[in-house]
Amino acid sequence: MTGPESEGSQVRRAVCPGSFDPITNGHLDIIARAARLYDEVYVAVMINKSKKGLFEIEERIGLIREVTSEYANVRVEAFHGLLVDFCKQRDIPAIVKGLRAVSDFDYELQMAQMNIGLTGVETLFVPTNPTYSFLSSSLVKEVAAWGGDVSHLVPAQVLEALNKRLAKD
Ligand code: PNS
Repeated sequence: MTGPESEGSQVRRAVCPGSFDPITNGHLDIIARAARLYDEVYVAVMINKSKKGLFEIEERIGLIREVTSEYANVRVEAFHGLLVDFCKQRDIPAIVKGLRAVSDFDYELQMAQMNIGLTGVETLFVPTNPTYSFLSSSLVKEVAAWGGDVSHLVPAQVLEALNKRLAKD
């Protein structure tokens, strides 16, 4: 079959990429919204060997799998390399990113333009829920490390993992 009918029958895929060290309620909100818009959503935990995280990649993946288990169309994978290659290998035409504030925009626009120039993959920006517009994994780690309450900012499983990890340090 050719034309619009065959295009309409294709699986619509998107990727939500990030470091997820660890996943926050802000990330989860974007993933959940992408899962409502697309047939299949990949959460790509991008490995950056020059950036040692608080959590190992496998721990990040385990936490993301737990907190996204209610979304049957979400799958979680780690990837070392360019995001556009992750997309090409899985036939993913769209990257979905949350935009928290104007300050995110410059760098996100640069990456979106680079990525579309490399392979034609599109980037779609979703406005972050205002409840989470200040939220980042780095701030969560910093506040938690000093004993601040982050229970409203991360899923319960992440809070537990954070407390365990920080108790060791
Ligand atoms: O959660 P982060 O750290 O803000 O996510 C940034 C991330 C991982 C999405 C971005 O650095 C990325 O896409 N890295 C993969 C390597 C790559 O494709 N770099 C070129 C970007 S134009």
